[in-house]
Amino acid sequence: MTARDAATDLFRERFGNDPQFIIRAPGRVNLIGDHTDYNDGFVLPMAIEQSTWLAMTARDDREVHLASVDHPDAWFSLDQVSHTNEGWSEYVKGVSWAMGELGDTGWDGAFATDIPIGAGLSSSAAFEIAAMLAFNAASGGVWNPVQAALAAQRVENEWMGLSSGIMDQLIVATAHEHHATLIDCRTLWGKPTRMPDGVAVVILDTGTRRELVGSAYDERRRSCERAASAGGVTALRDLSIRDLEALADDLDGETLRRARHVISENTRTVEAAAALADGEIERFGRLVNASHASLRDDFEVSSEALDRMVDIATGINGCIGARMTGAGFAGCAVAFVRTPDADAFVEEVLDRYRSSRADEPNAYVTGAGPAAAIVSAE
Ligand code: GLA
Repeated sequence: MTARDAATDLFRERFGNDPQFIIRAPGRVNLIGDHTDYNDGFVLPMAIEQSTWLAMTARDDREVHLASVDHPDAWFSLDQVSHTNEGWSEYVKGVSWAMGELGDTGWDGAFATDIPIGAGLSSSAAFEIAAMLAFNAASGGVWNPVQAALAAQRVENEWMGLSSGIMDQLIVATAHEHHATLIDCRTLWGKPTRMPDGVAVVILDTGTRRELVGSAYDERRRSCERAASAGGVTALRDLSIRDLEALADDLDGETLRRARHVISENTRTVEAAAALADGEIERFGRLVNASHASLRDDFEVSSEALDRMVDIATGINGCIGARMTGAGFAGCAVAFVRTPDADAFVEEVLDRYRSSRADEPNAYVTGAGPAAAIVSAE
């Protein structure tokens, strides 16, 4: 059964009639440009086909009633949106808080998803944006995707207490079908870049999950801030490699390497978007491989499992390039594979990974999907 059908069936079962709206919010994969968003830099993500689905109907009172295929039922009153830190409905409360007046109308909703949870494919950004669309539909507001992304980031940062950049929420809310988007995280300006024919995007889930990614992520952010402030700029976006070299005596070796990753990754990301647009696939692949090496050696956010997956992938026929993707430490890598070789690639990469590690891997060949939206209304 598809996640869409699962959400609709669950809605009918719990709420006893057909939903008024069906909402879809996709996960995302970042093609290149990791740990650059919170440095005012560049990222090149795309929405994936795997999505969170929400079947919902506006209520005429001030209550939100939630059902989910994956979690126990929950409800709360909009008159008492307090932070209890309990359960999955916290996200929905946070969304109501972040949306202000637009988040002030009640609804019934049933969720289902086929985004693997905790794998680094932004299942939480998809969930937040889906809930935002629900409040918006219930209150009849105007949908502004960039404002929605900023509000969803506030939910993560201020309500859930997880520091994250803007990439995930922004691509979930603004993606274009068949395109990746080069996003300037300082201006939030996005340039859609058509995915070339003949190249398959393969998400490679190592099957590893890591707790406490948050503290390592925060530590990386602090290193970046230290380097930027030593350089007298607000964000690493404003330093060149040469500027960084001039700071060699002011910063410790680790901080210098962290900053070198961010500065070089910004350059690679802009170049990679140009290579994709020009159909220069080999060049794109080289940049992707260099990004992995930089995240592994300078930023140190890869893991044995991710390195193993990337090594295996890049050694297989038809693979143009591969890298870890997202925050890192566990979860997924992404590989770019010539389309005719994609099926054989998937089989071989999984076989070889399984024979070298105990984790249970998974692979998804995915196209670039559209942004989150209401896909049907009664
Ligand atoms: C996580 C964060 C993003 C971004 C990536 C790393 O996905 O939510 O904001 O920082 O890590 O690129």
